[in-house]
Amino acid sequence: MAIGYSKASVKFEAVQKSFGAVKVLEEFDLEVEPGEFLVLLGASGSGKTTALRILSGLETPSAGRVYIGDRDVTDILPKYRDISMVFQSYALYPHKTVAENIGFPLKVMRVGKAEIDEAILDSAKQVQLEKLLERYPRELSGGQRQRVALARAIIRRPSVFLMDEPLSNLDAKLRGHMRAELKHMQGTLGITTIYVTHDQIEAMTLAHRVAVLEKGVLQQLAPPAEIYNNPANLFVAQFIGSPAMNVIHGGLENDQFLINGTKFKTSVQGRISKAIAGVRPEDCSVADPSEGTLIGKIYTSELIGDHTLVTVDCGSDQIAVKAHKEFDGKQGDSVGVILPPDNLFIFDEANGQRVR
Ligand SMILES: Nc1ncnc2c1ncn2[C@@H]1O[C@H](COP(=O)(O)OP(=O)(O)O)[C@@H](O)[C@H]1O
Ligand SMILES: [Mg+2]
Repeated sequence: MAIGYSKASVKFEAVQKSFGAVKVLEEFDLEVEPGEFLVLLGASGSGKTTALRILSGLETPSAGRVYIGDRDVTDILPKYRDISMVFQSYALYPHKTVAENIGFPLKVMRVGKAEIDEAILDSAKQVQLEKLLERYPRELSGGQRQRVALARAIIRRPSVFLMDEPLSNLDAKLRGHMRAELKHMQGTLGITTIYVTHDQIEAMTLAHRVAVLEKGVLQQLAPPAEIYNNPANLFVAQFIGSPAMNVIHGGLENDQFLINGTKFKTSVQGRISKAIAGVRPEDCSVADPSEGTLIGKIYTSELIGDHTLVTVDCGSDQIAVKAHKEFDGKQGDSVGVILPPDNLFIFDEANGQRVR
């Protein structure tokens, strides 16, 4: 059997969902390109699973339409939507072998045995499971089980692949490995994929585009680099990046940012009494107090390996700085923190919007 997936676009059009009085999705609009790897990123409870369940037909929207390709599937049963879904819990059948687990969706569809066997081998090869076909789930590691779930999902050759936090049950090392495997598999098959996660690293590394969701409202939809370098608002700015972007509370007057008597230059213009300056830890540096944009005392200094993370207490706000791995400042030392004007993001504290 030749591997050839039909790649479908996906569209949510003004989708709303409430459970009783609780609004979970508000006017949710999202278009996914054929073959795209789209990551839906948001904190727990933001409505990610609900969006996937609406797309797969397990949940009906309170309003709005859902399309797969140019077909309006809003009122179509899940089994006719041509979608495969992988969940956080892999839900393998314990008494079936790897091969039987993988082939199960085709068996249900009453495909002939020879064709199923060929498809099992084909799918198993995609995730390097071809040598483990006769094992039972209990004889597999967590990562191998997750691969069985993936192979089972791709065997039907769906036009859309949905994944709901599929790696969150794995330990950190395996998660990193499986992340690369998934990216490779999606790159090879080119199948339209919507992947839900609360993990910003997964979003940054896997996605062609990231959709950031907060409380059922889409905050930004853009490629990872754009989300990182040009966040639309304070929520996105703080959600992406580790450690999180520093926030400094103050006010904006013309192109100057003011904090209790100190001021520094920004690259925007405006007059906002309560503003926030955001700056990423890797864009700051620690210097002699006389050279700092702000001065403060070292709160902690942590050697991470390839860098030292220095947290400086600058009065009302703490600022994290990614410093050189050989940085040798001690807790309590007075230091300056240099904030480069071109790498500062200014936000209006009242609504979190970027000031440009
Ligand atoms: N069947 C349901 N009945 C009532 N409330 C629900 C139901 N499913 C989800 N919710 C609520 O909707 C919100 C979003 O849930 P969910 O989509 O699972 O978020 P996420 O996947 O981003 O963690 C949560 O507040 C959750 O409690
Ligand atoms: Mg969820």
